[in-house]
Amino acid sequence: MGIPETSPSGPAAESLRRPGSAGTAPPGGRRAGLERETDRLFHALGHLGWVREECGLFAPLTLEIRRLKEEAGATILAHSYQTPDILYGIADFRGDSLQLSIEASKTSADVIVFCGVRFMAETAKILSPEKRVLLPAPDAGCSLDESITAADVRRLRRQYPDAAVVCYVNTTAAVKAESTVCCTSANGLEIVEGIPERQILFVPDQLMGKNLQARTKKEIIPWGGTCIVHETFTPESLQAHRKHFPDAEILVHTECNPDVVAAADLAGGTGDMIRHIKNSSSRRFMLVTECGLADRLRVEFPDREFVGTCVLCPHMKKTELRKVMEVLTDPGPDQIIEVEESVRIRAKRTLDRMFEITSRSLPA
Ligand code: 13P
Ligand code: SF4
Repeated sequence: MGIPETSPSGPAAESLRRPGSAGTAPPGGRRAGLERETDRLFHALGHLGWVREECGLFAPLTLEIRRLKEEAGATILAHSYQTPDILYGIADFRGDSLQLSIEASKTSADVIVFCGVRFMAETAKILSPEKRVLLPAPDAGCSLDESITAADVRRLRRQYPDAAVVCYVNTTAAVKAESTVCCTSANGLEIVEGIPERQILFVPDQLMGKNLQARTKKEIIPWGGTCIVHETFTPESLQAHRKHFPDAEILVHTECNPDVVAAADLAGGTGDMIRHIKNSSSRRFMLVTECGLADRLRVEFPDREFVGTCVLCPHMKKTELRKVMEVLTDPGPDQIIEVEESVRIRAKRTLDRMFEITSRSLPA
């Protein structure tokens, strides 16, 4: 975890990691600067079938965003489900929820631009209250965090007074504030096993709760939320692809149904999938998750093949380069993330408990 996985790898990515000269007046003038930006984009995105002319169309935007970013002292975080123009055109860090939370707290930038959904930007604000946190797509929600309120958690606590509330990171700050400890797709089992309580109210992902129940002797009582992307995969569709690609390893997100998880070679979060691919000798993989991850990995692992099905998350795809430029120049009130201080302090405690268990210490 950490920077190596939140940064690109491979030759295409190397050129993208070079310090951006695009921000300042480019040597040789604007036209030469645009040519270089187009080359940089094409070097990464050519693997995905993007032609150079296409890259040239959005090079002025990425160039301008990178200039504005430097001017504002901002860092841009992008979840792996974002589109390739965001991931490889402008992002400083790419990663899963846990990695980005950690990056958000460690960065020395004054401003965080979060290319992802609202709960992710809220997590960044909880961990970095002194920073200005901006969400380019203010209406980017999540079916999981929208399935439960803080009042629901308070009611559950009254109903099960001896239980701990473990909240998946895909929750609002208000729900985190009412919970005992947070977890991510990468560390759910470690958290459940790492707390003393035997009875666990797991919110909000019903399917992740069921998948955890299959791996622990503790009692998991799941809330009824689901991810609109991951709940759609079926064992039948996996088997159909397995027939065509018998040598492909099947990597399934733990937000999927247990019968889909049971058919997997590996079940985990997006970060677990990336780590697995790095260390695997297989050439071919089927990623049972949102489509953005396969695009990211086609860029980073050009020698591997990613086959099969995927589903788009409408929330994750709301971020656009144009909105990122807008948020860096003149953010609207709904693009500036605020978390009420008493909620923030309690939500941070819930995140800190997670970091204590996973031994990842954060600054106070
Ligand atoms: P991870 O990248 O943490 O596995 O999260 C998946 C997801 O659905 C985020 O909304
Ligand atoms: Fe939420 Fe699912 Fe979209 Fe992730 S992929 S933001 S869990 S709806």
